[in-house]
Amino acid sequence: MGNYPSKKKPNNKSRKNSNKPERQNSLESNEETISRISTTTYFISEEVETERLQQYHYLIKHLFDGNFLSPIHELLNSAPCKVLDLGCGPGTWVLDMGSTYYNNKKSVFVGIDISPTFPNQIKPANTQFIQANILDGLPFENNEFDFVYIRALGLSFSETQWLELILPDILRVIKPGGWIEFNEPGPDAKNYGPYYKKIVDTHNKEMSIGDIDPKIILKYKEWLLSNSKLTNVQEEVRYVPIGSWDKNNKLGEICQENFNTYLKNMESCISNHLNISIEEYDQLLTKFFQECNELKTQFPFCCIYAQKL
Ligand SMILES: C[S@@+](CC[C@H](N)C(=O)[O-])C[C@H]1O[C@@H](n2cnc3c(N)ncnc32)[C@H](O)[C@@H]1O
Repeated sequence: MGNYPSKKKPNNKSRKNSNKPERQNSLESNEETISRISTTTYFISEEVETERLQQYHYLIKHLFDGNFLSPIHELLNSAPCKVLDLGCGPGTWVLDMGSTYYNNKKSVFVGIDISPTFPNQIKPANTQFIQANILDGLPFENNEFDFVYIRALGLSFSETQWLELILPDILRVIKPGGWIEFNEPGPDAKNYGPYYKKIVDTHNKEMSIGDIDPKIILKYKEWLLSNSKLTNVQEEVRYVPIGSWDKNNKLGEICQENFNTYLKNMESCISNHLNISIEEYDQLLTKFFQECNELKTQFPFCCIYAQKL
């Protein structure tokens, strides 16, 4: 639910499945392939996506009782810190962090994204935004950051890109003793039914471009654990109800709304794959949410964090 690939409009005339990304013919891991692979093309309304990501931010913040789980709260309150949000989208996390730690005047919160949907003018003085392609290398010095946060980027990059380019570069810019934290949807929902399975499986098939893995969340922990530069690897999965079936948990309604916006934005991609009309897709979505409410489906979000040695 948190993820989208890049936000380019497709050329509808030139494709059978208008919203289907161009696939790589080969997966050789040379540099050209690595950077080309991320240029997926989906029709996504930027405005709708920006609002959805803002809502997503507060959903995750409430679910995890704060903006992060890494043990850096005291550091952020006391020492001058430099914090990076990789693929920051509209910058909601950076803005929230900048406001929260505004009293610590020497800290800086930086967001980087290829798409400039983040604010340029109206923002706390301790925040900065940079438009750049992460795959071109992070435009930062070695050992510059105390904390690097990465949320909902699972579908933006292939496993090769993560392992050969992005992770080594993140570890380069984190200070010794600094922290890296991932937050992603997944791995598996609880109490789901056939409509859920149909939509999520189709979504995952559509997203599996090259070696992009919709279940990449299952690999993050393994990568961090096997990296000799990291220690204190921790993982926490929290579940949110989908729908209004849990009267004590308002997050369920927000989760349903966010999921619905996400799936509506993916409508032509998923309906093409299923060979159904948009009207039939809308009916499928209605049944999907009815089913989630009846079966009491819970959707997982996973936070994985580790410390650089
Ligand atoms: C699903 S959004 C997540 C945004 C943000 N992390 C959040 O949680 O709200 C994925 C973001 O990754 C950005 N992105 C994708 N490929 C990128 C690249 N190669 N370089 C920089 N940003 C990229 C997209 O522009 C998009 O804003």
